Amino acid sequence: MVLVLTLQFSSSYHGHSKKSLCVYLPQPTMSSAPAEPPSVPRREGSAPCSSCSEARRWKLQLVTIVGLLMAQTLLYYNDSAFYDAHRWSVLPSSPLRLRWFSDNSTTQSFAYSLSLGGGGGNNTHHDTSPPCTLNLPSLKGRVQVNRNPPSLKEQEREHPELTLGGYYQPENCTARHKVAIIIPYRNRANHLTAFVHHMHPFLQRQQLEYAIYVVEQAGNDSFNRGMLMNVGVLEALKQHPFDCLLLHDVDLVPEDVRNLYTCSEPPRHMSVAMSTYNYRLPYQKYFGGVSAMTPEQYTAINGFSNKFWGWGGEDDDLFNRVRHHGLNVSRYPSEVARYTMLSHKKEKPSPDRYTNLRLGKRRFKKDGLNSVKYQILKTERRRLITLLFVALART
Ligand code: BGC
Repeated sequence: MVLVLTLQFSSSYHGHSKKSLCVYLPQPTMSSAPAEPPSVPRREGSAPCSSCSEARRWKLQLVTIVGLLMAQTLLYYNDSAFYDAHRWSVLPSSPLRLRWFSDNSTTQSFAYSLSLGGGGGNNTHHDTSPPCTLNLPSLKGRVQVNRNPPSLKEQEREHPELTLGGYYQPENCTARHKVAIIIPYRNRANHLTAFVHHMHPFLQRQQLEYAIYVVEQAGNDSFNRGMLMNVGVLEALKQHPFDCLLLHDVDLVPEDVRNLYTCSEPPRHMSVAMSTYNYRLPYQKYFGGVSAMTPEQYTAINGFSNKFWGWGGEDDDLFNRVRHHGLNVSRYPSEVARYTMLSHKKEKPSPDRYTNLRLGKRRFKKDGLNSVKYQILKTERRRLITLLFVALART
């Protein structure tokens, strides 16, 4: 007789994934008289306690089964605890089955030991060193945000491990992710100083290969965050085969090093809990601040619109593009995806943003990464960053 044990785990992230464990047991010997204990053939020279050895065999089998069950459970949690253990909710109005990490799932505690892997795609850096692995508990979570950092000049001296352009590669292992951090920028010198001071140690603890691109808008026209992102992505990909794009505001610094700066199958909204919004999402569809996607995802949605001049709306339009192309959005729990917003005067919102947003869908195909017009006026490969000084053209 064969006894088959089947375990079924269901994970909300993967839908109803089934994992099966089959254990084959030999048929137990049955005695002919049911009232008597089962007869076991006696080995030569063995003690007459046949029921003892039978019991021992059964005990051993039981221990093996329990051991296998525990191993299976551990493996399951090891892999999925971080990404999957948080409940997803489906936006009821969405015909595209948009799935989210539910924000109220964040009270759950999650124990994980996760090795970085998978999401980032091919690593074309043919290094002989072993792939980097990351033990999340050893990262110790929360990190201090220093609002009075040393000057950029001083910081440059503190980072001999960086190569020009703010580029880093782990020394003893091959990074599993190549990440371009893209920062639209103008007139925020203090924020930039605090940002790079925070980010280099942060990203290095995550054992990433990365570079920081600061895309500075020249001239006096209204700021165009979306367009600067498009420029940053195009220019960064010309320089290096990045497999992950971190679209990042300069005034946001992550508070928890478990907030991995990597790309996953659905684009990820990173800045879930920001100090300025009391560590809550301002609204469910919020996609601003910091988000992560692969170059393939970014290209598929045609990047940001180039039409949003002035403050607001371009991130909402990006969200609509993601939805329109049938992509889901993932989020880490808010206890991990925490950000300090560095203080600044609130910008005046652009009055055009609602009209632009409403008419956005008509332009998804023609307006974006494939239509951005710009001129790079200057490229500075500094120790801490690559600075792209760029003139944007209205189209
Ligand atoms: C704007 C977004 C902004 C959000 C949060 C919205 O009204 O359209 O661009 O990110 O508010 O401040």
